[in-house]
Amino acid sequence: MKVVVRCLTKEFTPDQRTVRALGGIDFEVRDREFFGIIGPTGCGKTTLLHIIAGLEQPTTGSVEFVGEKTTQSMVSMVFQDSALMPWRTVEENVPLGAEFRNEQPSALKRVSQFFLEIVRLLDFGSARPYELSGGMKQKVAIARALANDPAVILMDEPFASLDAQTRLLMREELLRIWERDKKTVILVTHNLDEAVMLCDRIAVMSAAPALIKSIVSVDVPRPRSFRSMKDPDFVRCTEKIWDLLRYDVDKAMQQNP
Ligand SMILES: Nc1ncnc2c1ncn2[C@@H]1O[C@H](COP(=O)(O)OP(=O)(O)OP(=O)(O)O)[C@@H](O)[C@H]1O
Ligand SMILES: [Mg+2]
Repeated sequence: MKVVVRCLTKEFTPDQRTVRALGGIDFEVRDREFFGIIGPTGCGKTTLLHIIAGLEQPTTGSVEFVGEKTTQSMVSMVFQDSALMPWRTVEENVPLGAEFRNEQPSALKRVSQFFLEIVRLLDFGSARPYELSGGMKQKVAIARALANDPAVILMDEPFASLDAQTRLLMREELLRIWERDKKTVILVTHNLDEAVMLCDRIAVMSAAPALIKSIVSVDVPRPRSFRSMKDPDFVRCTEKIWDLLRYDVDKAMQQNP
């Protein structure tokens, strides 16, 4: 599924003030592309994902999904904290989409087991979220997003709360899952290495009111792994993105001291 974002602006008006979050955003994500979004804090990345997900209305502009609708739902979202239901077991957390569609309990169990196997957590089906580590919870959230069988997966800093080594593992896991059944993915991250390791192209946003400064293509061959980070093309790509970002990161720091 292709995602076409046109002239998006978003203004918030908390207590009579106007906050211009998005200043006019245009880009297209190709079918089955792994597309990254990187930008300084507070520039409007989460707002942009919420608008694409339909959770928030833009002030002006549009989001269009172009392609044959072969799946049950258009988008699934993975949040920074896994947002699992703490009173449910892992197995009951995964097939939420199918549950909303009133599918039979036997079908829910099948869906759950299939996707828990993909994220290698089949043995934890009867555990509750509090019994899992942060990385495992995020894997359950990814299994839930996949189980919804969406055309597009949106991820908002999915690994931000994890320690550095778990993050490395999770990147490789996510690549493995994506290579298996390529979906269109839009990933927001603050981490340059993570963006370059995972993405086909990366949109670099400016400080609010955000614009897309540039869209950078990542020419690092796939399959990628931890070792790809030593590839000269990898290093060049992170440097290019940082050169585009650093002025706006500094500007954002002065806006939000
Ligand atoms: N519901 C809201 N009401 C008022 N202002 C909001 C609301 N949501 C976001 N904003 C403002 O819009 C701007 C963009 O916020 P957003 O959360 O999208 O940024 P972000 O790029 O995701 O930041 P971060 O990198 O810290 O996650 C900020 O100035 C924020 O204060
Ligand atoms: Mg955010």
